[in-house]
Amino acid sequence: MTDQTVRLANGVEMPLLGLGVWQVAPRTTARVVEWALGAGYRHIDTAALYRNEEGVGAGLRASGLRRDEVFVTTKFMPRGDPDRELAASLDRLGLDYVDLYLIHWPTGAPTRFWDRFEEFAAQGLARAIGVSNYSADELRTLIGSAGVPPAVNQIEFNPFAYRRKLVEACRAEQVVVQAYSPLMQGHGIDDRRITAVAEKYGRSNAQVLLRFESGARGILWASQVAHGHENALKLRVYGEKGGLEWTQADPNYLWYTPFGEPKQLLTRAGAGAGPAAARVSRVPSGHPEGYLEGFAQLYADLAEQIAARRDRRSPDPAATLVPGVEDGVEGVRFIEAALESSRADAKWVSIS
Ligand SMILES: NC(=O)c1ccc[n+]([C@@H]2O[C@H](COP(=O)([O-])OP(=O)(O)OC[C@H]3O[C@@H](n4cnc5c(N)ncnc54)[C@H](OP(=O)(O)O)[C@@H]3O)[C@@H](O)[C@H]2O)c1
Repeated sequence: MTDQTVRLANGVEMPLLGLGVWQVAPRTTARVVEWALGAGYRHIDTAALYRNEEGVGAGLRASGLRRDEVFVTTKFMPRGDPDRELAASLDRLGLDYVDLYLIHWPTGAPTRFWDRFEEFAAQGLARAIGVSNYSADELRTLIGSAGVPPAVNQIEFNPFAYRRKLVEACRAEQVVVQAYSPLMQGHGIDDRRITAVAEKYGRSNAQVLLRFESGARGILWASQVAHGHENALKLRVYGEKGGLEWTQADPNYLWYTPFGEPKQLLTRAGAGAGPAAARVSRVPSGHPEGYLEGFAQLYADLAEQIAARRDRRSPDPAATLVPGVEDGVEGVRFIEAALESSRADAKWVSIS
């Protein structure tokens, strides 16, 4: 699917399947993009708003692919100066041009800035120009006054966000519909109707959703790094060698993904969990341990340290969870760095 393309109205070929990097943390974007390009993707979708254009550019350069082998989309949020915003996006991406430049949202003024977009296309700064989240009316208003019509309308589109009238309006105007959130952001992916189709064709539910077309001609999907769930704490840690994922509502399970390998599900005190995990697992497997157990562990470690001092011996080296003075200092440094970062508009601050 990654090598199929769709022809835009101006003749530019756009790869059908793209990797979207919304919610991919800036510092992991380069690796995600490099991995995706290595796996065969040739289309990356970002936006100034996603704050990870630098990572997209870095991943592209690390991939060793030629610039013209990869289709790069970015988006302009229509509240700044479009010339300055495009220059800044190109600078962050480290590119001379983008393949597709989109107005991210119509924000009640669907024709605003379009003349600048036409100019960007004329100057070769964007091979194609388009819009996103436009309704049928907004699209018609824009096309009514545009010299160059938008090549693409990127909209939410999946079996549960199926906007037939909008798709028909786009088709009538030769605007390619590009579907975003085709996997419904991971929610409801196991719907029984999708499962029934998947079972019938021997495919996964995600594969079925990616094939759902019904008028949409481009697909963007994402494995969103650091994506949370409503009302459920989810911790995800991504490092050089792999990732860990844990959900509070499911405390017995830890997803472990070594980089470039399939996900592994580790169960509490199960095979592969290791002696350190076994030592702190007292409740039989299948019963949640959770928060109170964490405190119990802290008290147990503290008791061991007190007993060791009383008996003039070294404490059990595994009894290490009790924070000491240095941990306290580290904690204060962390809070100071978080405050500094917050004051500097979420800029990365190293802990000195
Ligand atoms: N123009 C716009 O306004 C706009 C708005 C939204 C999105 N977009 C674009 O569209 C892209 C994709 O949309 P999206 O990120 O909203 O949602 P999506 O692609 O529908 O869903 C992503 C979610 O699906 C999960 N997922 C991926 N593969 C799966 C599988 N095989 N089985 C089960 N779950 C799976 C991912 O989980 P994991 O993270 O655990 O892998 C992630 O949470 C974005 O990255 C962005 O580029 C554009």
